This record gives sequence, structure tokens and C-alpha cells, in this order.
Amino acid sequence: MTTYQKDDVLLRVADITYRYSPKSEEVPALSNIQFDINQAELISIVGQSGSGKSTLLSILGGLLKPTSGELLYKGTNIYKWNDTQLSAHRNQNVGFVFQNYFLDPMFSAIENVQLPLYVNRNMTKSELFLKAKSALVSVGLEHRLNHRPSEMSGGECQRVAIARAIVNDPEIVFADEPTGNLDSKNGGLIIDLLSQFKQANKTVVIVTHNLDQAKQCDRMIRLLDGRIVQ
Ligand SMILES: Nc1ncnc2c1ncn2[C@@H]1O[C@H](COP(=O)(O)OP(=O)(O)O)[C@@H](O)[C@H]1O
Ligand SMILES: [Mg+2]
Repeated sequence: MTTYQKDDVLLRVADITYRYSPKSEEVPALSNIQFDINQAELISIVGQSGSGKSTLLSILGGLLKPTSGELLYKGTNIYKWNDTQLSAHRNQNVGFVFQNYFLDPMFSAIENVQLPLYVNRNMTKSELFLKAKSALVSVGLEHRLNHRPSEMSGGECQRVAIARAIVNDPEIVFADEPTGNLDSKNGGLIIDLLSQFKQANKTVVIVTHNLDQAKQCDRMIRLLDGRIVQ
């Protein structure tokens, strides 16, 4: 078995293009996107509204198959995988955080965080609970386990979403404007939490409109009309 080196390429984006309507003449949402993401890198993606940031993040995260080009995860083109393999990849290796949190309003914080764990049918109820609790503790929410989203602030909801994103100990976390609905103090807290994964050798990709946040990252990727600009 080959060991995976710390500074190996984790994700290679190889000449990716994406068209929402494959046959139309309109400008593609993404054109000839090419870059590498190394392990333990903290990357920001910036650009005007409509420049292709969310589309790119969806492709990087295994949610959207590119029209052309390849996405290599540890050297393997994930879009050659079947649906089962792709879902397993999204569940085990990848975590997502969105601007609107996407929590289930009927579930408590701990229940929301447990959801990605149900795929592993071997876990007992108490294992599920302890794992989800530990993720919530790591985002400072040990006092909110049984609160529903409507009983928490926006910043707390986003911390629950982060706990859910990391509960399966993924290799890489993607966050699409995670602070878009938050004030600057809570936004700063979210960026600090996401930045901490780097210390655990994890990779984080953050889409943001906030240049101060983007500058805190190791590298900034700027999109303009679906292309990378320097
Ligand atoms: N589901 C969709 N169907 C058709 N066009 C879309 C869809 N989603 C996004 N687009 C278009 O693709 C381009 C990039 O969108 P998006 O990736 O959401 O940009 P950003 O996240 O930077 O605001 C925009 O021109 C947008 O209108
Ligand atoms: Mg977007």
C-alpha cells in the first residue's frame, strides 16, 4: 500500500468546463478551470455574483459532474465512479457547509449532526450520540444539544452545520458563503472554526465575498465570468 504524503495533491482540477445547458451557445458557467489543492491547505474562492463559485464548489465536492474535464481525488477521477461510490465519497471524505445552514427544522442539533452517521449501520445508538456530541463540543455547542434550529441564533445554526460537516472526519470541507447571513463577529468565529481544521491536517475551501476572510486563507482563487483570473 502506498502511503499518502502530507503535501501530495489532494484534488486536481483538470481543465474543467461546465455548461448548464449543454447545447446552447451561451457562455459556459465555468471554462478551462485548472488548479491543484494540496492536503492541509486553506483556500478561498472569490468573485462577483454569477462568476461560477457555487458551480465550482459543487463540482469539487462531487455534487455536479463537469461537462468536460476531470476531477482527481487522490489521483482518481471521481466522476468515473457510479452513484453508490460517489455518495460514499461525499459521505466519508467530504463535508459541506452552506450559507443557509440546511439544517432539518424538525430535528435537534444532535439529531441533525447524527444524520450523516446513519449510513454506517453498525453504529449503536450510544456511539451515534457520542460521536455527534463530540462534534458539537468541538464547535462550542455542548449546551445546545437538544435545541432545534428555531431555538438557536444564526451563528449557532452554522456551528451545528459545521459539526455535521465534520462528524465523519472528512478529508476536505467545502463552505459556500458560510458567513453570508451572519454579523461580522459570528462570521469571524465561523472562519476561525473552519481554519482550525488545517491544524488537523484537513483541507478547507471557502467561498466568500469578504476579502478580509479570503486573505486569512493560504491561497485565493479568483473567478471572473467562469474563468480563473490572477
Ligand atoms: N441551475 C442553473 N441553471 C442555469 N444556470 C445556472 C444555474 N445555476 C447557476 N447558473 C448560472 O451559472 C453562472 C454561475 O453561477 P454560480 O456558480 O451560482 O455563481 P456564484 O456562486 O459565483 O454566484 C451564472 O451565470 C448563473 O446564472
Ligand atoms: Mg454562489
